[in-house]
Amino acid sequence: MVKPDGVQRNLVGEIIRRFETKGFTLIGLKLMNVSKELAEAHYGVHKGKPFFPGLIEFITSGPVVAMVWEGNGIIASARKTIGATNPLNAEPGTIRGDYGVTVGRNLIHGSDAPETAQQEIALWFKEEELANWQPTLTPWIYE
Ligand code: RTP
Ligand code: MG
Repeated sequence: MVKPDGVQRNLVGEIIRRFETKGFTLIGLKLMNVSKELAEAHYGVHKGKPFFPGLIEFITSGPVVAMVWEGNGIIASARKTIGATNPLNAEPGTIRGDYGVTVGRNLIHGSDAPETAQQEIALWFKEEELANWQPTLTPWIYE
C-alpha cells in the first residue's frame, strides 16, 4: 500500500514501477480513502502501542493506493525493496531509503508474511476486484 505521504509526494508511479519492472505481477490496484475501521483492522497488531493513534490518523489522512502483487518469493523481496521501517536505517536504493526521513512518513506498507498478506488482501479487496491473468512475459521471467 502506498501510504498517504507517497500519494501526496507523487511517488505512486515510481513505487509501482519498481515492482512492475522487477517482474512481479499486478493483481489488484485502487486509490481509496481509508476509514478508521479499516485502518484499525489493518494495523490491529499495533493496537495499544504509543504510535498507534498517530498511525491511524496518518493512514486515514488522505488517499492510499492499495495493491496486490504476486510472484515467487515476493514477500521477502518486496520487504527488501521497501527497506527498513525507519527510513534513516533503510539502505539507499530502497523505497524508504531513497525517499523517506521519518518512521511516521515511510511511504509504503508491505505485508510481512503470506498469512498476513492473505488477511490483508481479504480486508482491502473484494474477490471481483482481483484480476485473474497470466502475463505473456512469464517465460522470460521464470525458467
Ligand atoms: P508497515 O507495516 O507499514 O509495512 O511497516 P513495517 O512492517 O516496516 O513496520 P511495523 O513495525 O509493522 O509498523 C507499522 C508502521 O507503524 C509506524 N511506526 N511508527 N513511531 C514509531 O516508533 C513507529 N513504529 C512503527 C510506521 O509507519 C510503520 O510503517
Ligand atoms: Mg508491518
